[in-house]
Amino acid sequence: MLRFQVGRLASCSSRAFSTTSKANAKVALLGASGGIGQPMGLLLKQSPLVTELALYDIVNTPGVAADLSHINTRAEVTGFQGSEQLALALAGAQVVAIPAGLPRKPGMTRDDLFNTNASIVKQLTEEAAKVCPDAMICIISNPVNSTVPITSEVFKKAGVYNPRKIFGVTTLDIVRANTFVAKLKGLNVDDVNVPVICGHSGVTIIPLLSQTTPSVSFSQDDIEKLTQRIQNAGTEVVDAKAGTGSATLSMAYAGARFVYSLLEAMKGKDVVECAYVKSDVADSPYFATPIRLGPNGIEENLGTGKLSDYEQQKLQEAMTELQANIAKGENFMKS
Ligand code: NAD
Ligand code: LMR
Repeated sequence: MLRFQVGRLASCSSRAFSTTSKANAKVALLGASGGIGQPMGLLLKQSPLVTELALYDIVNTPGVAADLSHINTRAEVTGFQGSEQLALALAGAQVVAIPAGLPRKPGMTRDDLFNTNASIVKQLTEEAAKVCPDAMICIISNPVNSTVPITSEVFKKAGVYNPRKIFGVTTLDIVRANTFVAKLKGLNVDDVNVPVICGHSGVTIIPLLSQTTPSVSFSQDDIEKLTQRIQNAGTEVVDAKAGTGSATLSMAYAGARFVYSLLEAMKGKDVVECAYVKSDVADSPYFATPIRLGPNGIEENLGTGKLSDYEQQKLQEAMTELQANIAKGENFMKS
């Protein structure tokens, strides 16, 4: 379970990772009974970094919590069900991870989830802004390009906005890019890191293959095929699942990796993760880039680095959609 931490941190941090490292950290997982929520709860329960794991959902949390609570690891598991118990789940949380909401079916875009998921994210983050305004908020619910602006507006409205602590979780794009590149090039996947920037839907997912580490050379054909596969990887899973949902297991892995990174950073470790955040590095108020994480969230936005001509062109093509997704989230909060 900790394998990805060791491999990943070796490439982005000069400090050694200790699997026995401890911290006092309460993580609240909202949407804990779902396809992502259950395996993500399992991964968080296994982590020595988590001391309290609060599982919240509108259904089935007593069963999920009872089940996970029997695992002989450190985290104390509690289950909360229904909106009247949401505040209890959030009380004292340092990290709130939100995979609550509908997943796609074949033929749908992530934006097609907006009507249902915007209200769910609004309701959950309104309570978080009241109960644990200093927590790190990790938004997984789609469409991430819009649900992160919604979260920011909720926190602004509550007068507790801290843009350094609100993250759209795009880690799955990096996980996929690393896997596909390692496979194509015959590399050890533990050593590969491909930054992915911009947003989290279709053309707004922009892998920076030119910045792959270790340095790899790609033909133009490789670049185009890999970029398209990474952009469509979510749809690849949605189609393969044939109406039963979207990526859950790989997302649980990616979501747990992001939460572990935050918890490590909160203890002072030097950790870099890509995430979709409030940003001024591009012509868009929210934008995903590699972020240096620290005890207070975003320590430093590392920007896009130097883009190839192809990546620059992909970025230009993505901007209209990204800006429209952001405006849709902000307008939802105005209306
Ligand atoms: P799912 O339907 O299996 O689970 C969603 C869970 O949310 C359910 O248990 C449901 O009861 C719960 N829920 C619904 N309304 C709620 C509310 N008001 N409060 C609390 N919980 C509520 O779906 P899933 O496969 O786990 O996907 C969840 C979301 O994550 C989807 O929107 C999906 O598109 C998104 N997702 C994002 C990424 C990413 O990379 N960011 C990757 C995969 C999926
Ligand atoms: C993904 O990238 O797998 C998620 O955003 C889910 C989806 O709808 O594709």
